[in-house]
Amino acid sequence: MMQFCNLKKQYQELKPEIDNAIAQVLDHGFYIGGPEVGQIENSCAEYVGVDHAIACSSGTDALVLALMAYDVTYGDYVITTPFTFIATAEAIALVGAKPVFVDIDPDTYNISPSKLEELLKTTDIPAEKLRGIIAVDLYGQCADYDNIREVMKGHDLFLIQDAAQSFGATYKGVQAGAQGDIGTTSFFPAKPFGCYGDGGMVFTSNDELNRKIGWLRNHGQNERYNHKIIGINGRLDAMQCAVLNAKFDRFTLTEVKNRNNVANKYMEFLQPLADSGKITLPYVMPDSIHVWAQFTLQAEHRDELMAYLQLAEIPSAIHYPKPLHLQEAFSDLGHQEGDFPVSEAMGKKVISLPMCAYKEDAEIEEVCDVITMFYRKKG
Ligand SMILES: Cc1ncc(COP(=O)(O)O)c(C=O)c1O
Repeated sequence: MMQFCNLKKQYQELKPEIDNAIAQVLDHGFYIGGPEVGQIENSCAEYVGVDHAIACSSGTDALVLALMAYDVTYGDYVITTPFTFIATAEAIALVGAKPVFVDIDPDTYNISPSKLEELLKTTDIPAEKLRGIIAVDLYGQCADYDNIREVMKGHDLFLIQDAAQSFGATYKGVQAGAQGDIGTTSFFPAKPFGCYGDGGMVFTSNDELNRKIGWLRNHGQNERYNHKIIGINGRLDAMQCAVLNAKFDRFTLTEVKNRNNVANKYMEFLQPLADSGKITLPYVMPDSIHVWAQFTLQAEHRDELMAYLQLAEIPSAIHYPKPLHLQEAFSDLGHQEGDFPVSEAMGKKVISLPMCAYKEDAEIEEVCDVITMFYRKKG
């Protein structure tokens, strides 16, 4: 079976650096809060172009920490997209608030600024209870932040950028993670910049938020056994930071480009099928660099195509089959089918193909040949 994401290959290529970084942690023994943590925070803050980066235990906890930093709580509402991994809306629910969904743009799959504007004009949620927006950079492409900011004008709302899938991408020359008041990302292994376990990071240029998030991720401590506020155990351990440090240059200098090369090859090989209307290739916004956390297209007869790929031992995935407003976990919100039609339609059409910085041309060609064969047989 072909690998969806050739992570072992990456390890083989970086083995000396990674082994050495891990050995150093074992040597000094500061497994929690060792010097590797500050090192990756500094590298990431500089790369993203923000004043502060706070390493934490996962992309989910990064979102929880961001919401806790704004004291989001019971009775509050936070706007987000229903077409995302559950963690985005789950974080809102975890702090006691309710997600308010806004449908997506059909080209980018990200929250639609015009639908956001409509919601802000028509909602009867009291202004003091509607606290902010979490925009998600789905599949590795930044949301349309200029237009999101534009429609937010005159509303007292925070903007959190869920860059779990987009670390390494840019929007109008600015790195993902720097578009919101707070940005968050995930270092889950299969993410563009992944560690070898769970991990995440929070970005901000606001000194006060930085200080508070620093306390929140470590049980609300400002100094040892002095707890200013209620926090969580949301730290990232030194071992994972060591892995990230060892991978950092390779990711920023080579892998982002490689991911784009892989995506361009897919685009080239699949263009004839797009021309014949069988598939819709991903759309990349002008002034934007995609990082291709997923290479996701819309396909006619999607489920049959997946089964056909499976027979050829090619893995594929659906990100995401059921939008969040239709998930049982959010049934208390009282939504039904038809509430967010674009998200619902995309859930039935999208398919993600094997993707990573180490995909070889032959693998990409094989995937595209099998897809072409499928549509040839379908007629
Ligand atoms: C958009 C989005 N937000 C948040 C997360 C949560 O990240 P983690 O798995 O590191 O908790 C993910 C992970 O898949 C994600 O895709």
